[in-house]
Amino acid sequence: MYKIVDKKQLNEAVELMVIKAPYVARKCEPGQFIILRADNNSERIPLTIADYNREEETVTIIYQVVGYSTKVLYEKQVGDSVVDFVGPLGKPTELKKHKKVLGIGGGVGAAPLYPQIRKLHEMGVEVDVILGGRSDEYIILEEEFKAVTKNLYFATNDGSKGKEGFVTDILNELIANGEEYDEVIAIGPLVMMKAVVGITKPLNIQTAVSLNPVMIDGTGMCGGCRVTVGNEIKFACVDGPDFDGLLVDFDECLRRQNMYKEEEHSCRIGLEGGQNNA
Ligand SMILES: Cc1cc2nc3c(=O)[nH]c(=O)nc-3n(C[C@H](O)[C@H](O)[C@H](O)COP(=O)(O)OP(=O)(O)OC[C@H]3O[C@@H](n4cnc5c(N)ncnc54)[C@H](O)[C@@H]3O)c2cc1C
Ligand code: FES
Repeated sequence: MYKIVDKKQLNEAVELMVIKAPYVARKCEPGQFIILRADNNSERIPLTIADYNREEETVTIIYQVVGYSTKVLYEKQVGDSVVDFVGPLGKPTELKKHKKVLGIGGGVGAAPLYPQIRKLHEMGVEVDVILGGRSDEYIILEEEFKAVTKNLYFATNDGSKGKEGFVTDILNELIANGEEYDEVIAIGPLVMMKAVVGITKPLNIQTAVSLNPVMIDGTGMCGGCRVTVGNEIKFACVDGPDFDGLLVDFDECLRRQNMYKEEEHSCRIGLEGGQNNA
């Protein structure tokens, strides 16, 4: 059992939770994730390690409440426990000592982006970041990013913070203004990452993305998280979740994501909460 030692609501749909998990806290690196089960009736949910504290043996996760299992997790209180907390899984991000990097975080994608940006900052790399969200309240980790970036830009759909529009509008502006980045790291919804690559690929700007297909076993055995990268089949759980965005077949990822959405809504094993997704 893994004890919840702290929790904080970041906005109406997103929560931060700190969990005592000594083994994961000792071993994990930016880019890796865990698979947890909130209780014995919950499904296994993969969540990125948003932060960790090796001394206190804790791991921070930041998650959006979207369905049954994240709702069960959300209802847990400080002092309660989760039954499984398996990890660290996936490959650590390969962070290069570039001169200048641009991070782009969409919605809850800012959570996995943060430890990568923090590490780049610690390595002495100059980093700018664009955070995007539906509105002001959906922008998370602003203070944390401010501490590790040179320029922090915001884009919101309704213009309530920063530029009205998408993160890609700011990316286009930065490029038009002559900003030069050695690498772009984009983490967020698939459509956002696809749109970012649509801009960076013709300019041949190295672009890393983090894919989050449906994962089941997290060991490369079930095939659930299959993605095509540079015409090769990869499994996001063991080969990723970070990949070279210029090589990812985003259209296939989007097709598979939509396919699973249908499945999730029709194939349930009679869990009371699962029916809420219908
Ligand atoms: C490597 C990885 C890292 C992730 N990191 C985060 C994170 O840091 N924060 C966060 O909020 N979310 C993250 N996710 C997504 C998160 O796992 C899903 O939101 C969660 O599993 C939904 O579970 P549910 O039972 O509440 O919802 P469900 O009702 O089961 O599903 C709701 C939505 O979540 C997606 N989903 C469901 N099960 C999975 C699964 N096993 N793997 C991936 N997506 C799934 C579905 O496509 C659907 O759109 C990550 C996913 C992966 C693969
Ligand atoms: S989750 Fe099963 S192969 Fe990746």
